Amino acid sequence: MQLEDVQRVAVLGAGNMGHGIAEVAALAGYDVSLRDINDELVQNGYDQIEWSLGKLAEKDRIGDDEADAALDRVDAFVDLEDALDGADVVVEVVPEKMAIKKDVYDEVVEHAPDEAVFVTNTSSLSITELSEVTDRPERFCGMHFFNPPVRMDLVEVISGKHTSDETLDLIEGLAESMGKTPVRVRKDSPGFIVNRILVPLMNEAAWIVESGDATMEAVDSTTKFGMGLPMGSFELADQVGIDVGYHVLEYMYEVLGDAYRPCPLLGEKVEAEDLGKKTGTGFYDYEDGDGAQIP
Ligand code: 3HC
Repeated sequence: MQLEDVQRVAVLGAGNMGHGIAEVAALAGYDVSLRDINDELVQNGYDQIEWSLGKLAEKDRIGDDEADAALDRVDAFVDLEDALDGADVVVEVVPEKMAIKKDVYDEVVEHAPDEAVFVTNTSSLSITELSEVTDRPERFCGMHFFNPPVRMDLVEVISGKHTSDETLDLIEGLAESMGKTPVRVRKDSPGFIVNRILVPLMNEAAWIVESGDATMEAVDSTTKFGMGLPMGSFELADQVGIDVGYHVLEYMYEVLGDAYRPCPLLGEKVEAEDLGKKTGTGFYDYEDGDGAQIP
């Protein structure tokens, strides 16, 4: 398939990343099928796209007409077969668990058009292992967006063992057509490039606080004002979802060893379901709209 042939992008999963990727695709002019497993989840994703487009228009990043046109290009589905109908590229953005993703691919291969290319937005899991449960491992790769997709320029394009060069070229072209800068990752080692660097940073920040060496606010002010990152480490964990970072760490710990042992502070937040911005509370409280209070 050539880039010119791509008209419809199916995004499976309407959560934090899924709705953002669907929005990016719609803004780039693609027809989008947004799918989640029940009406509430898919509606919530659709509403978030609407909110985000409104925010972008309010800040003059896009025009009102552009926002309306992008929203018009998004069709919401619960039925998987309907969502995959006519899809040229299928972007899988379901929870970061190998078993869940494999189950989804089992169903996807039954209904996806024969020519469709499959990409996964996994943050760390093996592209090769996922590709091998499909009927098209050579037309399968990682396409990893960053949170929030509509504001972050980078996309990691990750090759699995079986991925063809044509597929990597196509997906890099697709990312560029969405206004993103793709970076090719030659091998799907856990965490690829960004999370291999960023998630240990969040983990180490948590270990510093866990050990009582410094407060969370002190750590965040060093990462934000001393290291040049746009957010403090804890702010960033709240932005991406503490559960997301934690699951990436668990996987890196399992595959790469002790250096990636997750700090219990992260596990406690996950246990309490204080996952960050998406639940209103994480390391900081967002319910009153204040967000982080970093000195
Ligand atoms: N759509 C539209 N608007 C949004 C938005 C979205 N999805 N998310 C936030 N905004 C709005 C906010 O509501 C706020 O609006 P307000 O001013 O009316 O309250 C506004 O954007 C803030 O944007 P600004 O440009 O004024 O602020 P910043 O300059 O701080 O930029 C940022 C915001 C781009 C998010 C910046 O803080 C940033 O780059 N943060 C780092 C994010 C990052 O590193 N992400 C990658 C994480 S790693 C990852 O995702 C991988 C995964 O696998 C774990």
